[in-house]
Amino acid sequence: MRWTIECASPEETEAIGEALGELLCAGDLVDLRGNLGAGKTCLTRGIARGLGSGEPVRSPTFTICQVHRGEPNLFHLDAYRLEEPEELLIQGWDEMRQRGVVVIEWGERVEELLPKDRLEVGLEHRPSADGSLRAGEISPRKLTFHPRGPLSERILSGLVDRGALEAPSLPRERRGD
Ligand SMILES: Nc1ncnc2c1ncn2[C@@H]1O[C@H](COP(=O)(O)OP(=O)(O)OP(=O)(O)O)[C@@H](O)[C@H]1O
Ligand SMILES: [Mg+2]
Repeated sequence: MRWTIECASPEETEAIGEALGELLCAGDLVDLRGNLGAGKTCLTRGIARGLGSGEPVRSPTFTICQVHRGEPNLFHLDAYRLEEPEELLIQGWDEMRQRGVVVIEWGERVEELLPKDRLEVGLEHRPSADGSLRAGEISPRKLTFHPRGPLSERILSGLVDRGALEAPSLPRERRGD
């Protein structure tokens, strides 16, 4: 089952991230997917706040991994610049998964290393009326939550119980795409 929400502004995207962060435990993995500027780092900023971290969250595009100390720790990863998925292993991939919450931007680039049970979140950037996509411009984002196993379903149920998400969208096969 997939659940969606439309976030009209960066503040709304951060707010759903914060609600999500409050529900995450060490060992959980959030797999963020979406084009450049879709709002993956913005959502992570909210997640960090929900986990109780007061540190600023910046895109780890060049550093690959940014650690935010807390209970639990947040390992914020960005796979955009990795040449090989295996480069994640030298970042201490196995250890970070045991010791904290992992949020990874561009998860599709390291799909083979991701655990089966993860919360996949797709962020879609709607074009403006003239069809252009302008970086930084405030416009709605559609977020689709797709839990891939029992652990991530538990997280999603928490969000649904809080009334944070809209009605489930039909699974792909039933939509015929
Ligand atoms: N509804 C919205 N939700 C989130 N961000 C938005 C929204 N509207 C506008 N923005 C802006 O879009 C930009 C999103 O940037 P962000 O760095 O979060 O994207 P990203 O997906 O992490 O990009 P990258 O792939 O480069 O890492 C920010 O400048 C933010 O202010
Ligand atoms: Mg980013």
